[in-house]
Amino acid sequence: MHVAVIGCGYWGPNLVRNLNALPNIRKVTCCDLDRKKLDKLRQRFPDNHYTQSYDEVLGDASIDGVLIATSVSSHFPLAQKALQAGKHVFIEKPMTSSVRESEKLIELAEAGNLILMVGHTFLFSPPVIKIKEIIRKKELGGIYYISTSRVNLGLHQKDVSVIWDLAPHDFSILFYWLDEIPCKVWAIGRDCIVKGIPDVAFVTMEFPSGTQAHLQISWLAPSKLRRTAIVGSEKMLVYDDTENVEKVKIFDKGVNYKDPETYGEFQLSYRSGDIWSPRLDTYEPLQMEMESFLSSIKTGKIEKSTGLDGLKVVKVLEAAEKSLKDQGRQITIS
Ligand SMILES: NC(=O)c1ccc[n+]([C@@H]2O[C@H](COP(=O)([O-])OP(=O)(O)OC[C@H]3O[C@@H](n4cnc5c(N)ncnc54)[C@H](O)[C@@H]3O)[C@@H](O)[C@H]2O)c1
Repeated sequence: MHVAVIGCGYWGPNLVRNLNALPNIRKVTCCDLDRKKLDKLRQRFPDNHYTQSYDEVLGDASIDGVLIATSVSSHFPLAQKALQAGKHVFIEKPMTSSVRESEKLIELAEAGNLILMVGHTFLFSPPVIKIKEIIRKKELGGIYYISTSRVNLGLHQKDVSVIWDLAPHDFSILFYWLDEIPCKVWAIGRDCIVKGIPDVAFVTMEFPSGTQAHLQISWLAPSKLRRTAIVGSEKMLVYDDTENVEKVKIFDKGVNYKDPETYGEFQLSYRSGDIWSPRLDTYEPLQMEMESFLSSIKTGKIEKSTGLDGLKVVKVLEAAEKSLKDQGRQITIS
């Protein structure tokens, strides 16, 4: 297969590196408006083809698929053109800057019978997949709530708030685990450093099942945290992506409530049992994601992270951003 990566800034080179390592890749074309970015990448991958012209990419009939890793505001126009040119498309998260744009891309892909996949990389990550299995098997019982922290110092974005930059990771993970999207969302945040671009946000969500979730996201924090706690009716789980080993730990902890037999009797018993850590596969999620895109092109079937999944994330991003701009007003998602 011959694919083209559009946007070779910070993230694009990671796509290029993983694509270059795949056996069923015949050629990788790298496209960026900035010649310096291409020259730098050419030193690492001299056999790839390099161009500053997107039109050249779209006009090349040998290119099967296009992977878009440019700034968020350019995702829609670039993906629209690629689909109209009959190319399969992979777009980095978040899929587009608005629900309307994501819907339009889904329509175009369907009409052209083309693959439209979104780069929710964590859906290919071993701990996230293991937790999905644990939740699906009801090992934690019903999920009461989930709380996550994704904070560190850095990479302030120029064109989007921290919600559009970091929350797509947590939203995609949560919607995958829970098999539902929230019915209500609220968010507060602050633009501490660059005025007009919030760099810290606290997002709260309620799901139709009753599960609640709280996200803390920030580019302005003293240390890097990638921690999720899931509290279920049977067990509890902690997923810490900064750990090298034992990223997932399950705690046999909980509280049992006994129905009072007499008025005034209130009985709680606290359970604190074993803690164990499941074995996790070891592979680079991005490698799996790239393989999955190529295999979708071949089979015509997307395994996960479809355009529809991308749209769901954008829908909740839009609602969270609206709430943030309106002092944390509760937004209902239909
Ligand atoms: N999946 C992940 O874990 C992950 C991680 C980081 C970033 N991302 C996503 O990757 C995308 C890119 O982020 P980044 O941090 O690399 O941005 P960046 O600004 O570092 O790089 C973007 C590059 O795109 C180029 N570009 C812009 N418009 C173009 C056009 N029309 N044609 C060709 N090139 C063009 C720019 O010159 C730049 O080199 C974003 O959507 C971001 O959310 C995903």
